[in-house]
Amino acid sequence: MTSAPIIDQLLKLNNQDIVSFHVPGHKNGRIYNKISYKNFQDIVYSLDTTEIPGTDNLHNAKDIIRQSQDKASKIFKSEETFFLVNGSTAGIYSMIMASTCPGDKILIDRNCHQSVINASILGDLVPTYVYPNMDEEQGIAMGILPEDIEKQLIEHSDIKAVVLTYPTYHGIACDLKKIREIVHKYDKILLIDEAHGAHFGLSEYLPPSALSCGADGVVQSTHKTLPSFTQSSMLHVQGDRIDREKLKFMLRIHQSSSPSYLLLSSLDFAVMVYETEGKYLMKDLLENINNFREMVYKLDKVSIMSKDIIGINGVHAIDPTRLWFGLKGITGYRLEQRLRDEFNIQMELSNNYGVLAVTSIANDTQDFYRLLSALDIISKEETNKGFYDLQSFIYKIPEQVFTPRQALYKNKKRVLLKESSGYTSGESIIPYPPGIPLIVPGEKINDEVIEYVTAIIKSGKEILGLKDASYQWIEILA
Ligand SMILES: Cc1ncc(COP(=O)(O)O)c(C=O)c1O
Repeated sequence: MTSAPIIDQLLKLNNQDIVSFHVPGHKNGRIYNKISYKNFQDIVYSLDTTEIPGTDNLHNAKDIIRQSQDKASKIFKSEETFFLVNGSTAGIYSMIMASTCPGDKILIDRNCHQSVINASILGDLVPTYVYPNMDEEQGIAMGILPEDIEKQLIEHSDIKAVVLTYPTYHGIACDLKKIREIVHKYDKILLIDEAHGAHFGLSEYLPPSALSCGADGVVQSTHKTLPSFTQSSMLHVQGDRIDREKLKFMLRIHQSSSPSYLLLSSLDFAVMVYETEGKYLMKDLLENINNFREMVYKLDKVSIMSKDIIGINGVHAIDPTRLWFGLKGITGYRLEQRLRDEFNIQMELSNNYGVLAVTSIANDTQDFYRLLSALDIISKEETNKGFYDLQSFIYKIPEQVFTPRQALYKNKKRVLLKESSGYTSGESIIPYPPGIPLIVPGEKINDEVIEYVTAIIKSGKEILGLKDASYQWIEILA
């Protein structure tokens, strides 16, 4: 008999009709009796509590939170698991800072999430980068080669930890087992941002999980691919390379002292689903996806990423639950917009080439039929034959003049972005999506970067990191 201990206990406490002289301010949801909105209160408020007798304490878990974390640890096959209520971001900060000391060097993949760069600012670290292979035509990152990691470890023997994204946003998995062997051979710590791979243990048809490949620390955005609320994630550890006490301290620094029980309950729920129905639901999802793929191949204008890329460009496996496709005659940006505006289908992201669908065990057969039928209609209407002009992605790492932290504390001045070539940047330039930094603070801006950013701005996409909302100005080091 399985159970969800956090949910069980919160519901029990709710039934006790406790008069609250305690936070939260809505007082067990009574505010919703005065201001009623679609019965929202019936499902949510009863779980929103804080640390009172019976609800345990995330920062010193001994009771229901401990039980749920232990259960997660067992099913995800870690040695210890920590629930995160400040997103994977907080887990990434914590695991990196628990594994390093100020001044240490870390090796990062350049297509990392901004939280990894920010961890180097918080932890006063010196980042050095390894670039994944790129698919120039599609403008997306592919795999990282084990030999590229080894080259960096030989060149920079003072690297303390290696931090990699596995899988990428588009579901591409490098040969992590081999990389782990190399990283441990050189006695370094392997930390994995598995934000997009929390579901990997649910089927043998998915890439192996980072834990099963032997990573020392792994952060998963449970909220992205498993049924938990936004901002709820998990941090898993194994082995003795990461100091667990230091890690717990870092988690206390980076996480709220008022962790949300809505988020904790949703993690508890996700763990329960993973353990019980998860594998069956994943089997259904993969069947739906296989059917979808077969039918999509018949639409001759649609080109969808498939297993064919395995073995090339550092790609060791792909996550079949990510659907990345382009349609001839229409940019990915426009395809995403048409799907949303005309068919009420919300995709995850797009670029000039294509659009990405992030599917999960919560999708059903009908969803795939709707997408297929929309693609059929759009492909018949769009008459251009080729893919749109593609802006090549830049993957040369700009020269690092200062570390991101040194750059943060230097005096800055503004110059026009288009005239900034040759200056050292005081800001990040991160086209979003996919959120891969082109420039991080402390790096020298060059003509190629300016040209690429100008094209991105023209396409109407968002750029993160620049303070100037019109994207005309950039801060440089004075
Ligand atoms: C690869 C990757 N890592 C980390 C994060 C941060 O996750 P969270 O939003 O849960 O803090 C994201 C978010 O999109 C991501 O895509």
